[in-house]
Amino acid sequence: HDKTDLYAGRPVAHLTPPEGWMNDPNGLWYDEKEDLYHAYFQYNPNGTVWALPLYWGHSVSSDLTNWLYQGIAIAPERDDSGAYSGSAVVDYNNTSGFFNDSVDPRQRVVAMWTYNTPEKETQYVSYSVDGGNTFISYENNPVLDINSTQYRDPKVIWHEESNKWILTVAHSQKYEILIYSSPNLKDWKLESSFGDQGYLGYQYECPGLAKVPVVEGENGLTLSNLTSNNTSVNNYFNSSASSNGKVKEAWVLFISINPGAPQGGSATQYFIGDFNGTHFVPFTTQTRFIDMGKDYYALQCFFNSRNKNDVLSIAWASNWQYGSLVPTDGWRSSMSLVRNLTLKEWAPNPESVQLNLNSEPILNMKPSKAKNASTELTDVLLTTKDSISANFAPRMNTGVYDFEIVWSVNKNAFNNSRLNEWTLYIDSQDYYAEYLALGYDTTAGAFYIDRGNSYNDFVSLNPFFNNRESISLEPYSTSTNGTNTYKVYGVIDQNIVELYFNDGSIVSTNLFFFSDHNQIRGFETYTNVDGGFKFDSFKFHVLNF
Ligand code: FRU
Repeated sequence: HDKTDLYAGRPVAHLTPPEGWMNDPNGLWYDEKEDLYHAYFQYNPNGTVWALPLYWGHSVSSDLTNWLYQGIAIAPERDDSGAYSGSAVVDYNNTSGFFNDSVDPRQRVVAMWTYNTPEKETQYVSYSVDGGNTFISYENNPVLDINSTQYRDPKVIWHEESNKWILTVAHSQKYEILIYSSPNLKDWKLESSFGDQGYLGYQYECPGLAKVPVVEGENGLTLSNLTSNNTSVNNYFNSSASSNGKVKEAWVLFISINPGAPQGGSATQYFIGDFNGTHFVPFTTQTRFIDMGKDYYALQCFFNSRNKNDVLSIAWASNWQYGSLVPTDGWRSSMSLVRNLTLKEWAPNPESVQLNLNSEPILNMKPSKAKNASTELTDVLLTTKDSISANFAPRMNTGVYDFEIVWSVNKNAFNNSRLNEWTLYIDSQDYYAEYLALGYDTTAGAFYIDRGNSYNDFVSLNPFFNNRESISLEPYSTSTNGTNTYKVYGVIDQNIVELYFNDGSIVSTNLFFFSDHNQIRGFETYTNVDGGFKFDSFKFHVLNF
């Protein structure tokens, strides 16, 4: 990014298209030779709404925060068609035979994607001999064709245990994820299908399998004292198959659904289980949503990463219900931050321990050193008369902020016949009555986000852009005297707010729009209960590079 972008109305730390329309992330891989991450995306450079012909746009980043647009990487063959979503792998050992010695093994990138025409959807393979900037279509494409118009979004991984490439692809409107294997990325054998599970919605899209490490959970929960009442979870972890040296791992299958998500429109669900090289078997019949917000779709994991155990993921931070109507100028949509995924034990209530996907954001920015850019306080008892607030001088205001609040509640102060809340108001620069409200109420036991206080016509008129949402929270910790403590970490970047609760066991990502470029003036806290809440710690920073 040019540093002047800091002051523009588009996200700074989130990937956006230079102009035109963007949707799903595609083809995520890490170039070990150049120490560079590559992200491709569904791209219409000719307009700010989804339209054919649809391309793969391409951006790169060395820190997963600053993204640099590189141009179009894959183009469709005809104007009435699209290079739809897909993935990329590094074919280090040249299993495909696409490469010769002139291409460094670490840059032997092969993409698999859906070629969409009015007649059907088929799977194509393309390879790059210039480090991922341009791709050459395999001469015998398509490599998979089942005569369907609803067959898309191939995601390929390398399965070490069986020494094969594994592909998951959606047979979207049959609610099937088809699982194939291949020795060479060209010849694919159907191994099994997983489906008709979880939330169905209208259709399945963008599937993906990932092997995710299991790490120590909240409150020091560890696998050794895993008390899951589910025997298949316990059996899995007691068998040697699940441990690779010291790292315990389990498999996660992601399936995006659209429309028909519980929050409305688009959402990404996942299942935790075992994958044996041919079949994915979930531990339980539960489906879970990786992000409780309205704007988190088509999640995809990177094929590889700088740190071998990281499972890096990124999603389209929008929703098909209104993605093509959001009020941005000349460009539309951003990705989420990149998140590192782990599995942790999690106690949704005092009697259960379950495995849960945990998200940790990657954000390579630092608190600004400018005066008043940082607020850091500990042990603040909130009262109806006091508040914590800050105003940011335009000069030092980058449009990117993070905050962390750890709060504990004093049950005796509450009156259940009313709201007992604390709120953090994020105020717009231009109009006093424009703000984003984030808060917690003990009666509901939930956090809320209110993004409806805006003079922006899109916000007030679009019936699908929910103003208010809630996120049910379990305590982060409970002290011996029964005091419950909760924790939220938030990142705000121009028009997007990502909330990570209790170190990332629950996440909510949402867009918000004020009337003029989303300039933020400052923040202010509020409570309606004297002595009901204590901020054990409160941090709010303007961020900078
Ligand atoms: C998901 C999706 C994919 C498809 C792509 C087209 O958002 O509908 O299923 O490949 O977008 O742009």
